Amino acid sequence: MDIKEIKSIEDVAAFCKRKGFVFQGSEIYGGLAGFWDYGPLGTVLKNKIKQHWIKYFVQKRDDMVLIDGAIITREDVWKASGHVDSFKDAFSTCTKCKKVIRVDHLIEDQLKIPVEGLPIKELSNIIKKHKLVCTKCKGKLAEPKYFGLMFDVQVGPTNPTKAYLRPETCQTIFTNFKNVVNSSRVKLPFGITQIGKAFRNEIAPRDFLFRAREFEQLEIEYFVHPDKLSEFPYKIPNKSVNVLTAKEQIKKKPKLQKFKFKELFSKNLVKTKWHAYWIYQHYNWFLELGVSEKKLRFREHRPDELSHYSSATFDIEYEFPFGWKELGGNADRSQFDLSQHIKFSKEDLTYFDGEKKVVPAVVAEPSQGVSRAFLAVLLDAFKVDKDRIVLKFKQELAPIEVAVFPLVKKQHRELAREVYEMLREESLAFYDETGSIGKRYRRMDESGCPYCVTIDHDSIKKKDVTIRERDSMKQKRVKIKDLVEYLKD
Ligand code: GAP
Repeated sequence: MDIKEIKSIEDVAAFCKRKGFVFQGSEIYGGLAGFWDYGPLGTVLKNKIKQHWIKYFVQKRDDMVLIDGAIITREDVWKASGHVDSFKDAFSTCTKCKKVIRVDHLIEDQLKIPVEGLPIKELSNIIKKHKLVCTKCKGKLAEPKYFGLMFDVQVGPTNPTKAYLRPETCQTIFTNFKNVVNSSRVKLPFGITQIGKAFRNEIAPRDFLFRAREFEQLEIEYFVHPDKLSEFPYKIPNKSVNVLTAKEQIKKKPKLQKFKFKELFSKNLVKTKWHAYWIYQHYNWFLELGVSEKKLRFREHRPDELSHYSSATFDIEYEFPFGWKELGGNADRSQFDLSQHIKFSKEDLTYFDGEKKVVPAVVAEPSQGVSRAFLAVLLDAFKVDKDRIVLKFKQELAPIEVAVFPLVKKQHRELAREVYEMLREESLAFYDETGSIGKRYRRMDESGCPYCVTIDHDSIKKKDVTIRERDSMKQKRVKIKDLVEYLKD
């Protein structure tokens, strides 16, 4: 296979399989839709993205702690959160070929009108009015029905307790709020973040990793004293970004507008400076991952699509090969979740501020799918440069950090192995002695490896190597004793 350009998401999937980034889950038995296995390169890249989240949002801040909650969670949690009642999508089955179709996506794809969050009756009316039919065989569609998106599980052999695989990671942040306050000595304002698996029985998983049934989330709940929402100690950088406001989206020809992040607050698009600040932080995290500004924008949720818990949500969108789509979300959840869990569990989840007990407000919830971040990083790094494919990852994200090659296997192997042993102490190094040197360079370009180190005849005499840089393809001789320092620099 020789993909020179990534034109479709299928090309991305094929490239990822060929290079060992991602494979279809259960592939040898015919695959299982919506489940993906990460291969050797993909696993490292995914872990580095998660590590970067921890570094950016936990390690470099004073006001954030990290937790890791259980995946299987009691039904009560999801009754309190509202998921048991409202976490569902409408689907329709083709009366002829039996294809199952998610109706809001059908309407959005065919009529180009936003309908997320509309009640099932209205969706059904739109299908009838516009005579929408099956996308596969043009058959008539049956009346839409709701489908609950949570996977349920029975825990234990007798009198099983009903539980669910969590559909979002944030609820264990809320259920552990008191534990974190009591054990970690955090003081408002502060955030709790979590990285972990989430599961949604999506009606129609599609677009490779974009809409999966098993995926990972990076989430932050940022808690502020409800009487001190206007006390804001940080600065919001004077940066601008493209925004599609809710007002524009209901116009015939919606226009993108440029806003400074601080204007999201001063122009009343969000309720607090905090929310504007966290929208910026989420965006800046992507810039630090190397995603280009041109590929990012924000979209405000319209009132008809706001989740039951949110008073304002902004999605960060990325220009995928299938169009501008949600990369991550950022909602103002206010006191909804803690209040619900207080009501349902009858536990005291309030915060004592020295004078009185308060229910903290969640002013922002940066919520990011790991696989969507993974796709954005990969797509942005993918370049066709003359006759080669090269993944121009930022150096710290590269799944292979340095490769070592003997120019001629038999003659240079011994020294090459010595150099490799030295480098693998410091970095994710890779040793390759097969194929021509040109082919070995190309393989590393496609894996995003920033440096290739070649040992040749002169190396044995002069104790030096050739370093070839991925992006410029420039080569340089460096003494073996200086190699580690050189690469670190
Ligand atoms: N706690 C809020 C929440 O879960 P969401 O918009 O449903 O909000 C947040 O999900 C993020 O999780 C999305 O922006 C996306 O990045 C990721 N995500 C959601 N569903 C996904 C799916 N089926 N496959 C991959 N990522 C998904």
